[in-house]
Amino acid sequence: MRSVVLAFVFVFVFRAAAYDSLDPNGNITIKWDIMSWTADGYVAVVTMNNFQMYRHIMSPGWTLGWAWAKKEVIWSMVGAQTTEQGDCSKFKAAIPHCCKKTPTVVDLLPGVPYNQQYANCCKGGVVAAWGQDPLSSVSAFQVSVGQAGTSNKTVKLPKNFTLLGPGPGYTCGPAKIVPSTTFLTPDKRRKTQALMTWNVTCTYSQFLARKNPSCCVSFSSFYNETITPCPSCTCGCQNKNSCVKSDSKILTMAGVNTPRKDNAPLLQCTHHMCPVRVHWHVKLNYKDYWRVKIAITNFNYRMNYTLWSLVIQHPNLNNVTQVFSFDYKPLVPYESINDTGMFYGMKYYNDLLMEAGPLGNVQSEVLLQKDKNTFSFKQGWAFPRKVYFNGDECMLPQPDAYPYLPNSARQKSLPFLTLVSCVLLVIFTAW
Ligand SMILES: *[C@@H]1O[C@H](CO)[C@@H](O)[C@H](O)[C@H]1NC(C)=O
Ligand SMILES: *[C@@H]1O[C@H](CO)[C@@H](O)[C@H](O)[C@H]1NC(C)=O
Ligand SMILES: *[C@@H]1O[C@H](CO)[C@@H](O)[C@H](O)[C@H]1NC(C)=O
Ligand SMILES: *[C@@H]1O[C@H](CO)[C@@H](O)[C@H](O)[C@H]1NC(C)=O
Ligand SMILES: *[C@@H]1O[C@H](CO)[C@@H](O)[C@H](O)[C@H]1NC(C)=O
Ligand SMILES: *[C@@H]1O[C@H](CO)[C@@H](O)[C@H](O)[C@H]1NC(C)=O
Ligand SMILES: *[C@@H]1O[C@H](CO)[C@@H](O)[C@H](O)[C@H]1NC(C)=O
Ligand SMILES: *[C@@H]1O[C@H](CO)[C@@H](O)[C@H](O)[C@H]1NC(C)=O
Repeated sequence: MRSVVLAFVFVFVFRAAAYDSLDPNGNITIKWDIMSWTADGYVAVVTMNNFQMYRHIMSPGWTLGWAWAKKEVIWSMVGAQTTEQGDCSKFKAAIPHCCKKTPTVVDLLPGVPYNQQYANCCKGGVVAAWGQDPLSSVSAFQVSVGQAGTSNKTVKLPKNFTLLGPGPGYTCGPAKIVPSTTFLTPDKRRKTQALMTWNVTCTYSQFLARKNPSCCVSFSSFYNETITPCPSCTCGCQNKNSCVKSDSKILTMAGVNTPRKDNAPLLQCTHHMCPVRVHWHVKLNYKDYWRVKIAITNFNYRMNYTLWSLVIQHPNLNNVTQVFSFDYKPLVPYESINDTGMFYGMKYYNDLLMEAGPLGNVQSEVLLQKDKNTFSFKQGWAFPRKVYFNGDECMLPQPDAYPYLPNSARQKSLPFLTLVSCVLLVIFTAW
């Protein structure tokens, strides 16, 4: 029986990690629209839409790969390029842009000449989250394919799509033919349509992206002087030997902040060894309101987080009255529950979370109206249930370490009972 329970717990944890309950429909959709047939193939516009509410593709950007179904080649590309040309030795007159069976495509950097650009291209592969900046949540390029089918009967869909954004974590499904996209002419008086369209959907799993969390959460409150720190070694202590102290001389050396190709961090030494910490401080208690201070600290000397996002789940977020110095948007993943919201930086003010150091933090305060029926400072109610930074879930402290009200004895058995009932629920729903 015990092993059965453990197996279900394992399945549950595994599933929970591969599916984001706060953004159940989040995905990145890659759409290919064939705009014209050519003598030996077609010209397609490839559009990547990031439909995730709060997970953007950060610098150094996306990498898209696929496998051609037959002997296709890429004659040319506008607004993106393949990382390798491959073996084009069979070609005598015109030489293709890429002859590889499995091309790997990256976006161009901003500032390329106008004639190499394509609408929504050339952002260094950075794509905003849909919930944060819908207009910037799209990336596109044009590709001219040769040695391919030249009609919707003979064209073969590319296979085995892969998406890095920029690290691992995304899994892409097969390409599927969908109704052709329609386009409105600029004067909006005529509709045209793609000759053929297919879609590929990619979804993210933090579990595939990394084995340790990449951020942690600490707590404090006005009613108890204890600061509940991030759990030790939250983000893995294997880098402990390469971390640097905040007063280290190394930090004054030129080039120490330069990001690495492999994105290897240079972490400030902390007991949690996380690149990012989120701190939630219960600051003030008014009659009808209460006030929380949120601070995000960057401990990575080699990372500027542009377009950062913070997602918090707390039952009182249905009554947010004011958010100071961050932008805020409620997320309502399920129609009935309004307990999740997204915080992000204000444009040109604090949307950049600077590299570790004196400027490596952003902060804000939130004013919430008390819901008389549920509001409490007891039993850690005032602390968030879930926290995500840049779309990855952060590790919370152990429940019995939360700061608590003086003289309010905690019910130690509560977390255990919750766990037991969770296990039972999983077993019964799985049956
Ligand atoms: C992808 O996300 C969009 C927007 O949330 C949603 O409408 C669509 O159904 C999703 N696609 C898949 C295959 O899940
Ligand atoms: C295909 O992807 C586009 C976004 O790129 C989306 O608007 C459209 O609904 C998708 N079509 C289907 C049938 O999923
Ligand atoms: C796609 O991947 C599968 C499994 O990895 C492999 O068997 C297949 O040959 C690949 N297809 C192409 C066209 O490379
Ligand atoms: C292919 O094109 C023909 C007309 O040329 C059209 O009737 C048919 O629906 C198209 N098929 C697909 C899969 O788009
Ligand atoms: C972060 O941005 C600042 C200002 O734009 C720049 O001086 C610094 O080199 C950047 N650091 C990293 C790690 O990219
Ligand atoms: C959710 O709560 C916010 C306040 O945080 C409120 O502005 C919004 O209207 C609520 N949405 C729904 C669907 O209840
Ligand atoms: C809090 O929000 C809920 C739903 O958004 C609403 O029904 C309730 O009246 C609000 N409570 C207060 C005290 O404003
Ligand atoms: C503050 O909370 C801690 C638990 O994190 C507890 O051990 C301590 O007794 C509390 N302090 C007071 C004055 O109640």
